[in-house]
Amino acid sequence: MSNKSWVLGIRREDKNRWERRAPVGPSHVKKLIEKGIRVIVQPSTLRTYPDTAYQQAGAEISDDLSDASTIIAVKEVPNDLLMDGKTYVFFSHTIKAQHKNMEMLDCILQKNIRLLDYEVITDDTGSRLVRFGKFAGYAGTVDTLHALGDRLLALGHSTPFLHLGYSYCYNTVEMAKSAVTAMGEEISNYGLPQTMVPFTFLITSEAGNVSRGSQEIMKLLPHKIINHQQLQRLVKHPEEASPYHVYLLITTVADWSEPKDPDAIFDKQDYYAHPEKYRNTFYEKYAPHITCVLNCMYWDTKYPRLIDNDQMTEMYESGQSRLVAVGDITCDPMGSIEALIKTTSIDQPCFVYDPSSGEVHDAHTDTNWIYKPGVLFCAVDNFPTEFPKEATEYFGDHLMPFLEGLKIKSDVSLPFDQQNDLPPELHKAVITAHGELTPNFKYISEMRKENEKSLKNFLILGAGFVSIAALSYLSRNSSYNMTVADNVIENAEKLVANRKNCTAALLDVSDTVALEALVAKHNIVISLIPAHLHIKVAQVCLKLGRHMVTTSYISAEMQELNEEAKKAGLIFLNETGLDPGLDHMEAKRVIKQVTSAGGKIRSFVSWCGGLPMPEASMNPFGYKFSWSPRGVLVASTQPAKYIQESHVRDVSGDNLFSRRQQVSIFPGFSLEGIPNRDSTKYIEQYELGPECKTFFRGTLRYTGVAQLGLLDPKPVSWLAESAPSITWNDAVRKHLNARATLSTGKTIQHILRPQMGYPDKGFDDDQIRKIKDAL
Ligand SMILES: NC(=O)c1ccc[n+]([C@@H]2O[C@H](COP(=O)([O-])OP(=O)(O)OC[C@H]3O[C@@H](n4cnc5c(N)ncnc54)[C@H](O)[C@@H]3O)[C@@H](O)[C@H]2O)c1
Repeated sequence: MSNKSWVLGIRREDKNRWERRAPVGPSHVKKLIEKGIRVIVQPSTLRTYPDTAYQQAGAEISDDLSDASTIIAVKEVPNDLLMDGKTYVFFSHTIKAQHKNMEMLDCILQKNIRLLDYEVITDDTGSRLVRFGKFAGYAGTVDTLHALGDRLLALGHSTPFLHLGYSYCYNTVEMAKSAVTAMGEEISNYGLPQTMVPFTFLITSEAGNVSRGSQEIMKLLPHKIINHQQLQRLVKHPEEASPYHVYLLITTVADWSEPKDPDAIFDKQDYYAHPEKYRNTFYEKYAPHITCVLNCMYWDTKYPRLIDNDQMTEMYESGQSRLVAVGDITCDPMGSIEALIKTTSIDQPCFVYDPSSGEVHDAHTDTNWIYKPGVLFCAVDNFPTEFPKEATEYFGDHLMPFLEGLKIKSDVSLPFDQQNDLPPELHKAVITAHGELTPNFKYISEMRKENEKSLKNFLILGAGFVSIAALSYLSRNSSYNMTVADNVIENAEKLVANRKNCTAALLDVSDTVALEALVAKHNIVISLIPAHLHIKVAQVCLKLGRHMVTTSYISAEMQELNEEAKKAGLIFLNETGLDPGLDHMEAKRVIKQVTSAGGKIRSFVSWCGGLPMPEASMNPFGYKFSWSPRGVLVASTQPAKYIQESHVRDVSGDNLFSRRQQVSIFPGFSLEGIPNRDSTKYIEQYELGPECKTFFRGTLRYTGVAQLGLLDPKPVSWLAESAPSITWNDAVRKHLNARATLSTGKTIQHILRPQMGYPDKGFDDDQIRKIKDAL
């Protein structure tokens, strides 16, 4: 291939508005052109260098890159823009068979593209040669410091951190550094909140590029470097700590890993080869005492986590934790810090993770997110792009020698095994050629199959009330895919709208063929349809070997499948809602607490109810349907069974409300309860002994539900399908035998109020008006 014919294309980045970097800058283009290379640059109004700068360097500005034999970019290229037979160089994120890019890889293979990836241009030791260096460390640290200031303000402390902007507010790293230095001067002059000293930062990793960038920023602040013994001492004796500087810990794996064998000493190479031989001490030695962690270390699943979710919860709930923020510059979701449940964007760089509830609060979910309890996380997945000019320059400097290698010795038409004239660093960075993975990357196919096996593909059946919560929870995890199927497609479509990795499907579970086809495409089925339909789903899951979850009571038919499911190695997890569900867990927790303190349980009574906030309970039910209205009705007609002072009490469905009782667990509320189905089957499951003479599970409501009789499922003539249409108010009046002339307000005043057991003068006019509005 002659030099003259070699045309290089530089793609316009289109991943998101913040991607303002380019693989090379105008100065690099100028050098390439001087070497006789024709360079075409796609125009971009977002790129950090304007088109004119490239033009002045001698490049052609054109949308059309078809003349270019090699096209370089920073981020992934959309499938429809990939051109047949070209050589592409970009960060493809395919070498770990990343699920999200496998379709793109297929397209690259299909289009006979020769793909090279910067990530695998390495030297003999495996070190990357083309990279963005310390920029992630700079930007991640500056952003975390700003976010920390924001968070501390929400916690009631104005601090100098607030006076630093996000990295993208500064044109250069030097400008950002000046701002950090100025902020440091404020710390020296005015100090940090006395109640928070020692104010400590911990950087994980010491020698990596990201860590070095982070250290450079942190060392601009007035600081004192300490080790873990000094940390423990200062935390014990805060009076010895100064508010006029921060304390910095720069740690490596050697600092928090201990050989399990008491006679062994830490050996880094041995740790890398056999991490299982080591115990992680990060939680004991550091985590609770640090104000802010800056995570800069490489991690993969074979290593222990720095801190897992259980430790985070324990630490947080102990009330001893000082941890305010985590800047996770590694951006490894559920990685070394498990609570990083997602990466963030420059638009919304932070979220608060509540270790007690597992909830995530961010600007998407809540305008007051910054005030929420928990730990702040900052984990932008493209930190270096916040310093786009310098990052481009740095990257381009490292890329230039390789572009020349591609130019001189690049005959893409030769079979890959004959492309030996490529410089070795480039030869081993070729992932695909002639429609195939090259020998070094053949493993991607196998890895992909393995990844797909372990991929969490959820099928949520039903798009009702409960599915909303299930989907909100699951869709926080970017590695999950969800399909929501419902027999009313609009329900499913509404639910998945604006959510990532979620698709809607039309399915009536009574259609066995369609149900099987959909179940087969997923590995976990969450059945949130009316309870009587679960058995059909369970049978299909058993046939196809899929796990299944429901929030419903275990029916006799479901119970019958237990042995078979276990034999097939399947989990059929039922009763995982509020009641049944959380109530069981709470019951077991309390029982364990009592028995492990040596106590015996002679009487067990539990009440559970999903009640609206008192101020929102102003309709005659005092209840709001947060789950299937039909389900609520059916539940109120179920026969119940419980044990009272050793006597078994059976209550028929139509008698349920006659057993209602006032419940005074919270004297400030008027609550009543009814027995909740067959309690007795839980005595054994709760592992209670014969000394337990009373066992009762009950459903709790605000007073009124039962008295009104509105939940009575008995058919009434005025609601029959053949009956003329009727307003809700008229239906209530008819139901209560009120005169048709009576206004709703009067109905409540004269009829409902005494029926509901309220004192006659209980409501003032304003309350009546509100109840009337609710009706
Ligand atoms: N354990 C608990 O605390 C608890 C609380 C509430 C509900 N639940 C259970 O959760 C499940 C879901 O309750 P919900 O309140 O979301 O119900 P819902 O009535 O709001 O939603 C059910 C959805 O299933 C769809 N559906 C009905 N028949 C279908 C069919 N044949 N094929 C496909 N889709 C169908 C409906 O269109 C609806 O969208 C129910 O089984 C309920 O008993 C448990």
